[in-house]
Amino acid sequence: MEKRILRLGMAGGGEGAFIGAIHRNAAGLDGDWRLVAGAFSGDEARNRRSGEALHIDPARTYANIDALLTGENALPADERIDALAIVTPNHLHAPMAIAALDAGFHVFCEKPMAMSVVEAEAIAAAAARSGRHFGLAFTYSGYPLVEEARARVERGDFGKIRLVQVEYSQGWLAQAIDTEGNKQAEWRTDPAKAGLGGCLGDIGTHAYHLAELVSGLRVTEVCADLSIHVAGRRLDDDINVLLRLEGGARGVLKASQVAAGDENGLKIRVHGEHGGLEWSQMEPNSLTLRWLDRPAETVRAAGPGLAPSTLARLRTPSGHPEGYIEAFANLYRAFATRIRGGDEWFPSVEDGLRTMAFVEGVIANDRSGEKWTALG
Ligand SMILES: NC(=O)c1ccc[n+]([C@@H]2O[C@H](COP(=O)([O-])OP(=O)(O)OC[C@H]3O[C@@H](n4cnc5c(N)ncnc54)[C@H](O)[C@@H]3O)[C@@H](O)[C@H]2O)c1
Repeated sequence: MEKRILRLGMAGGGEGAFIGAIHRNAAGLDGDWRLVAGAFSGDEARNRRSGEALHIDPARTYANIDALLTGENALPADERIDALAIVTPNHLHAPMAIAALDAGFHVFCEKPMAMSVVEAEAIAAAAARSGRHFGLAFTYSGYPLVEEARARVERGDFGKIRLVQVEYSQGWLAQAIDTEGNKQAEWRTDPAKAGLGGCLGDIGTHAYHLAELVSGLRVTEVCADLSIHVAGRRLDDDINVLLRLEGGARGVLKASQVAAGDENGLKIRVHGEHGGLEWSQMEPNSLTLRWLDRPAETVRAAGPGLAPSTLARLRTPSGHPEGYIEAFANLYRAFATRIRGGDEWFPSVEDGLRTMAFVEGVIANDRSGEKWTALG
């Protein structure tokens, strides 16, 4: 397998942005990627300053995505980017991803995949016709103990799965900061930039992805209640969804951005006939297992008894905490492995299509007055 350092370009992630810097740190963690180009901001001065701060060749700090794709394709093949990371607000994901795939580049895109199922399908079609890889930043799927949870459910430790309960609780939008100059809040509450869902698209999609990944079951039907708690806000800031899953399992998905005081409380519990598991993102290095016939156990990152696929996602000895950037780095490493011709899982087109179908199914159900809506 070819093992040269891969060259990364970035769309978005300029100064003051949230997730772009996390991508850069994660991509660089294992030495697989080097950032060499970008269109970091729609604002010219900010774009230039961002490129300078990142030590990017000024000729490769481009004014916009079109200039980036044209400019990179004009370079010799052994200089141009291999992949583009898209870390802009949601409305730019589909147009940028499709343009980059059609220009011959692999794409690693932020979630939610797009604004709608139709847009997500257009990205899927572009990935298929270009033959390029498309990765999606469902960050939490990169945590070692999420993999451990998934592997234990898959090998049948808990028996047939009955219950899937997932909760994602934040409080940062408890007040009207979206009208007071907070950039991240502004676009997330603007339907033209965020999409059909507010909290639903932003963090509900993470919760949904985690629920299907860990349980190994697809959600077939939803019964939803969306609400807006801050006056004047145009998109949901709190969601409660009942889930029906394959094989008769039942579940609950709750997500909120107005749970005043909460930080990033993503938690999942999955129960089968003999026992269950619980994992919490704010304590990511422990996984609790509970049993009908014996005391609970705590599985620890890099401790004994882990699946080989979990060990492959760990970098430090037990007791040395790993976290968010390492989880993200696991996705970038898997993406690099696939580009180099190897075979490692990362969230991709199928994950994106399912999460967008969830967003549209939940909204359709909330508006319909029907009890259950089937997911397409
Ligand atoms: N995976 C995760 O855990 C996670 C966490 C946070 C955000 N996100 C996702 O990442 C994306 C960005 O979120 P954020 O919080 O970093 O937003 P942000 O507002 O902090 O950053 C967005 C960046 O995009 C840039 N941008 C806007 N229009 C542009 C254009 N036309 N060309 C180039 N750059 C442009 C902005 O200048 C800014 O630098 C969103 O899709 C969000 O859902 C994912």
